Amino acid sequence: MSSPSARHAPLLVEGVRKEFRRQRTTVTALSGVDLSASPGEFIVIMGASGSGKSTLLHAMAGLTDLDAGRVVINGQDLSLLNDAQLTKFRGQQIGLVFQAFNLLPSLSAEDNIRLPAPPESGLNEKVAGLLQRLNIAERRSHKPGALSGGEQQRVAIARALVCDPAILLADEPTGSLDYDAGQQICQILHELSREQGRTIVAVTHEPNVAMWADRVVVMRDGRNIAEFSPGGSRDPQEVASHYQGLLRQPLETV
Ligand SMILES: Nc1ncnc2c1ncn2[C@@H]1O[C@H](COP(=O)(O)OP(=O)(O)O)[C@@H](O)[C@H]1O
Ligand SMILES: [Mg+2]
Repeated sequence: MSSPSARHAPLLVEGVRKEFRRQRTTVTALSGVDLSASPGEFIVIMGASGSGKSTLLHAMAGLTDLDAGRVVINGQDLSLLNDAQLTKFRGQQIGLVFQAFNLLPSLSAEDNIRLPAPPESGLNEKVAGLLQRLNIAERRSHKPGALSGGEQQRVAIARALVCDPAILLADEPTGSLDYDAGQQICQILHELSREQGRTIVAVTHEPNVAMWADRVVVMRDGRNIAEFSPGGSRDPQEVASHYQGLLRQPLETV
């Protein structure tokens, strides 16, 4: 499978708007989001519950129809693909990681990782490399039920990377994990962006996740209202106060 092309930005989000209509009410989940990611960038989208983070991640993955705007992944405008093309594109170019791991319980760690990949020469080596890199090689034949939460999430990240996607999208990847396991996941995401030039967008409400990012994008009421670089200090207090400060400002000034 071809590697992400260097000619295109891995991710472009332009004027994305998404409404959910129920009988007489309409909820505007996203009201005009613009965002782009550079190759190898680790972006964290931070916002309160209901601010639109998951909806934005789903939009980036082409998992939801948009009311306006477009998402372009590695040069491909998702809105120009039909359902079958979109499913194929997603499988090849978008790696997805969720809070709940979503592994198949009857398959070993190794077979879960292998699952989305077409049989091809070199797949065994690729899976072995991912097992090593995610530090789960000795757990390869265990089923998810015999793995810790952190190990399950590392299997899910390996599965998301097995097709060598242009971008890795993670929705609250540490939301089901204790502090130490969550920090291990963050460190791995950080290292993958550095070592392999992986472009990663993760969603969280936790400062101790956001502190690992190259760039923190702050969401409020369906809009990305501000962004900042957390710097290298990895101080969750500093990130939390920066974030709270931005949220306290009136919308017009941020
Ligand atoms: N499938 C849906 N149907 C109706 N409303 C939804 C749906 N998904 C999200 N919403 C609404 O859109 C807003 C943003 O939700 P979401 O993107 O899940 O926020 P977050 O992930 O930041 O908690 C919320 O008001 C939520 O209730
Ligand atoms: Mg959410």
